[in-house]
Amino acid sequence: VSEATRDDRVVLRRAPSSRDALALMAAEVREGLSARPLPFLPSKYFYDDRGSALFDEITRLPEYYPTRTEEGILEAVADQVARVTRPREVVELGSGTGRKIRRLLAATARATVRCVLFDVNETFLTDSCRRLARDFPGLEVNGIVGDFTHDLDCLGPGGGRLVVFFAGTIGNLHPDEAVPAFLVRLARQLAPGDAFLVGVDLVKDEARLHAAYNDAAGVTARFNLNILRVVNDRLGADFDLTAFEHVAFYDRARAWIEMRVRARRATRVRIPRADVDLALGEGDEIRTEISAKYTRGTLEARLPGSGLRLEQWLTDADELFALALLRRIA
Ligand code: SAH
Ligand code: TRP
Repeated sequence: VSEATRDDRVVLRRAPSSRDALALMAAEVREGLSARPLPFLPSKYFYDDRGSALFDEITRLPEYYPTRTEEGILEAVADQVARVTRPREVVELGSGTGRKIRRLLAATARATVRCVLFDVNETFLTDSCRRLARDFPGLEVNGIVGDFTHDLDCLGPGGGRLVVFFAGTIGNLHPDEAVPAFLVRLARQLAPGDAFLVGVDLVKDEARLHAAYNDAAGVTARFNLNILRVVNDRLGADFDLTAFEHVAFYDRARAWIEMRVRARRATRVRIPRADVDLALGEGDEIRTEISAKYTRGTLEARLPGSGLRLEQWLTDADELFALALLRRIA
């Protein structure tokens, strides 16, 4: 970690992958767009300032139940989670606007001396850190600009630590490939007894899932297509945004929502800096995201070998969403 920037009580650091961000992005985009049969784009590239603002708009859509359901659960369990964890330090991965952690910090108040927000979007991270520092006097606030699939070691050794990961964002990692590796890396940053509170969206009625990712106002469509604009802006690609449409469907066998962009007509994209020249026919697709849905059983099945065990499964009355409280074992 380098380049600490200090203002008042906020310290912002940049993780290794954010230092050579454009070179890394060129390599990742090249790798993704070369994949066959289905090219893909890494989903962290949704979140430039426009994308992060669009996601915030998604969280307020009537069809998008996860945010308000998770907030309801958090409201109900924050005091209890605070009581059993008593963290000196609270870390939030993928913190975005940093709204949810406030409820938890209000509950852990006296025990917690430091809060660390971790996100790829530096603008949102800086704003969230400043707001937290303003509203929680006496709290030390750190921000880390980085990728939570690469840079978790920036957190340093654990001890008295609670890591939170809201919004079902863990569902955006491949359940068999990325999640086990993520959990092992995360557990390395936890001391025995440290806790991990993770929000997972639950398997449910398909119509409800479908609607949440195909909202009537078309905000999700704009959010999805924004990833092409980010690649244009940062890598000088020439994606023709009018040539693509939003696709989101539930894959029942894999228990995930899959997001794609589909070519409405034949189109071509060139990214000289990433050595990409991709011709797409009408109907060809690029995967932009998966959003895996869990049950208590499928989440617990990811834990053996991770050093984490499930301590509490906290859900809403309709079992739409769950907060899993995991504990690092000795
Ligand atoms: N926690 C917020 C935002 C969730 S959206 C909420 O509950 O509403 C997902 C957040 O994770 C975004 O802020 C995005 O910038 C961040 N993010 C996505 N992929 C990331 C990655 N690989 N590393 C770090 N942050 C990431
Ligand atoms: N973490 C969110 C989720 O899986 C991200 C998300 C919501 C998303 N809507 C989207 C990603 C639409 C891509 C497209 O629910």
